[in-house]
Amino acid sequence: MTIRTILKMGDARLLRVAQPVTTFDTPELHALLQDLDDTMAAANGAGLAAPQIGVDLQVVVFGNGTPNLRYPDAPVVPRTVLINPVITLLDNSMEEGWEGCLSVPGLRGVVPRHARIRYQGFDVRGERIDREASGFHARVVQHECDHLFGVLYPMRVRDFTRFGYTEVLFPGLDATDD
Ligand code: NI
Repeated sequence: MTIRTILKMGDARLLRVAQPVTTFDTPELHALLQDLDDTMAAANGAGLAAPQIGVDLQVVVFGNGTPNLRYPDAPVVPRTVLINPVITLLDNSMEEGWEGCLSVPGLRGVVPRHARIRYQGFDVRGERIDREASGFHARVVQHECDHLFGVLYPMRVRDFTRFGYTEVLFPGLDATDD
């Protein structure tokens, strides 16, 4: 079990376009997923992308199948490993929602996201994933996949009157480590 250091906004490694995974089911890839899992769990994250621990690969993990401490009102998202993802919009509808990021600790902001998406990719063994998602699930996928293109959620905030410190915006929230 290895809890890795999560890079913070300002680190140039968070701004790279990540490389696709070319070989699946390798010990190295399994070890990376274990580190992502351990690091995400230790930080109560809703998701984590490989670039956030300094690994330049198109690998994200999200969801844990149970309610998330940092987003207690959000629906449960299935635990997913998603590699080389492709997102397709199912329609043009957008919706706003609060987001935070382990690379932007202590802050939250309202971000517009596509409301309904299809996402495709591979799991750690190279098996295909092909799902449709909406609402918070779709939001998490878009947030994590943005990390693979060097995009952090503050870059998508449009209304900076709804961007600030978690402890001020949500005083009762048990999110001490974000
Ligand atoms: Ni993030």
